[in-house]
Amino acid sequence: MSTHLSWSQYWRGGAGESLQAHPASPLYGFASEYFLKRISTQESVLDIATGNGALLRRLPLEHGGLRAGVDYSDISPQLELRNKHSFVRMDGSRLGFAASSFDWVVSQFGFEYVSREPALAELFRVLRERAQVMLLCHREGSYLCAHSKQQLLEAQLLMKSPLFLLARQWSECFHCEQFERCELKLCMDSLFAQIRLPKESSLLLALLHGVMQWVRDVQSGRYTGQQAQQIVNQWVIALEANIERLAHQLDVALGTKDQKYLINEFKRQGFKAKTVAISEQGRSLAWGMYFSRGG
Ligand SMILES: C[S@@+](CC[C@H](N)C(=O)[O-])C[C@H]1O[C@@H](n2cnc3c(N)ncnc32)[C@H](O)[C@@H]1O
Repeated sequence: MSTHLSWSQYWRGGAGESLQAHPASPLYGFASEYFLKRISTQESVLDIATGNGALLRRLPLEHGGLRAGVDYSDISPQLELRNKHSFVRMDGSRLGFAASSFDWVVSQFGFEYVSREPALAELFRVLRERAQVMLLCHREGSYLCAHSKQQLLEAQLLMKSPLFLLARQWSECFHCEQFERCELKLCMDSLFAQIRLPKESSLLLALLHGVMQWVRDVQSGRYTGQQAQQIVNQWVIALEANIERLAHQLDVALGTKDQKYLINEFKRQGFKAKTVAISEQGRSLAWGMYFSRGG
């Protein structure tokens, strides 16, 4: 599965947004101080890898400048957002905007996903002379990354777990006349009877609960064989998408070297840089970066 399909699947699954909405959140604090409070009423802003428009939707009501959000996934932001903002499906490394179009470029857990050199070249191209940039980026070793690593391991484990493999095979057997005496079914039944759910793993727990419910529903005749198979196929697609997306996130998280590289590139373009290692309750969370030129 390619990364943009896995992100599309993520948004279709009803994901909200990654900015912690509470004003006490340090991510919100950075975005507020270095973007929301600084942007003036008529300035134009481009949000790269905008997702559901988490940053754009927080602009003050009186803001009347152009608000554009680009993302390469298939997302349908809520109608009220589409009315106020311009959402364009586009890769952040090939921006279809004229040179010098924006006073601001912002991104929250998005810019780092785009291929670095072309993303920077495009960003510098579309910015106006007196431009400002605010980025919140995944940080290598942050607790968000540690959490993703754990989830990735679980998803990989689940794909290989005997119960899951059995469920896949079993769902293909319903049409068989021997089904009630089938070894696979007996094996499934005995596994089902022995299951002790581990406490430490939320993903594993959720899936096991799902499989157990599925077995009960199948046994009570709630699904046809075809429906039961469809459900298992959806699990496989969701797990594959999760694996792809989480691996992508770990891959793009910025280490100190990457962060220094970005600062140097901005400085070469005449920007002043302010970067902060954002943390929450003593745990590393993200890089906050603000760049400004002129003024
Ligand atoms: C963690 S989400 C962040 C979304 C949003 N900024 C937020 O804070 O809720 C990362 C987003 O990056 C998008 N993305 C990844 N690579 C991209 C690319 N090359 N061009 C445009 N969008 C990209 C994904 O589709 C996804 O919506």
